[in-house]
Amino acid sequence: MNLSYFRHMKSSKEIVVSGIRPTGNLHLGNYMGAVKNFIKMQHDYRCYFFIADYHSLTTHPNPKDLHENVKTVLAEYLACGLDPDACALYIQSDLAQIPELYMILNMHAYLGELERVASFKEKARTQPNNINAGLLTYPVLMAADIIIHKAVKVPVGKDQEQHLEMARTFASRFNRMYESDIFPEPHAFNYGTELIKIPGLQGGGKMSKSDGDGNVINLTDSPELIRKKISRAVTDTGPVEPNSTPSQAIQNLFDLMQAVSTTDTLNHYKESHAKCNIRYGDLKKQLAEDMVVFLQPIREKIEAIKQDDVLLAKVAKIGAEKAMESANQTMREVRAAVGFKSF
Ligand code: TRP
Repeated sequence: MNLSYFRHMKSSKEIVVSGIRPTGNLHLGNYMGAVKNFIKMQHDYRCYFFIADYHSLTTHPNPKDLHENVKTVLAEYLACGLDPDACALYIQSDLAQIPELYMILNMHAYLGELERVASFKEKARTQPNNINAGLLTYPVLMAADIIIHKAVKVPVGKDQEQHLEMARTFASRFNRMYESDIFPEPHAFNYGTELIKIPGLQGGGKMSKSDGDGNVINLTDSPELIRKKISRAVTDTGPVEPNSTPSQAIQNLFDLMQAVSTTDTLNHYKESHAKCNIRYGDLKKQLAEDMVVFLQPIREKIEAIKQDDVLLAKVAKIGAEKAMESANQTMREVRAAVGFKSF
């Protein structure tokens, strides 16, 4: 791993920043969607990807769990193919420049606008005993994460649109306030909208943990667990007319098959569905076996990396160095703009 390659990249490529929640256990949907996107981006842009452990303090995690979760997430992203040589992959709390910028931005973030943020209102409703100031100012911290590297592209899901809009507000407000042009406007970004759809196992929409662990296939699930979850996937009573459109539950299984099985296998089951002689038990068995084979190398890699404290430490260190170089540069400009001067 070396820094010079990254310095070389610096001049021409657009800057991408994204934060990853340290909740661990990526599932197949995360992998095919978000993670694969990152893997591609790291070569096309100057990317900063970090594990958002400051953010997670809003819910007061147990310190031991927090560290374990950060480790798991780091191992998972490395196993999936994030390359610490190609991007800056770091732990948010390694950068003291982020809370410094957050604090300064807080001076220009108003109670009224923060109280109106949907994610804050939602949290205030669901955890009325823990409506802390960190929760209120979550969008300010997120803005600091993004603009500290002067990012213009932020790969995030739809649920983060409002936070991103606030990041734009805080960035341009700072520029106006201090008559500077330090911060460009960051925008949501996702390429590869053709991304393959990964549905859940319970017959509903996309694979998501919010519908329970039985709905998702985690990258670290054992072969036995994968078989069990798929055997319990929702189906229907079977096609009655030839060439009928599969129900959503069955289409979901076909979609999963498309992600992990060969085209021949998928076509075989689609044809037997069209001919009304499909046996869902066989379909599930085949899907489970293909899923096991597909995920095995990733699972083994995650396990190996998680044990390798030397590697993890090296990755975190080089990531922090790269991120700090950019953060320090921005903070020099910010401090000068607000009027902090050394005597
Ligand atoms: N709020 C984001 C989420 O919940 C995580 C995040 C924190 C983030 N800081 C960020 C995403 C900066 C993009 C850029 O998923």
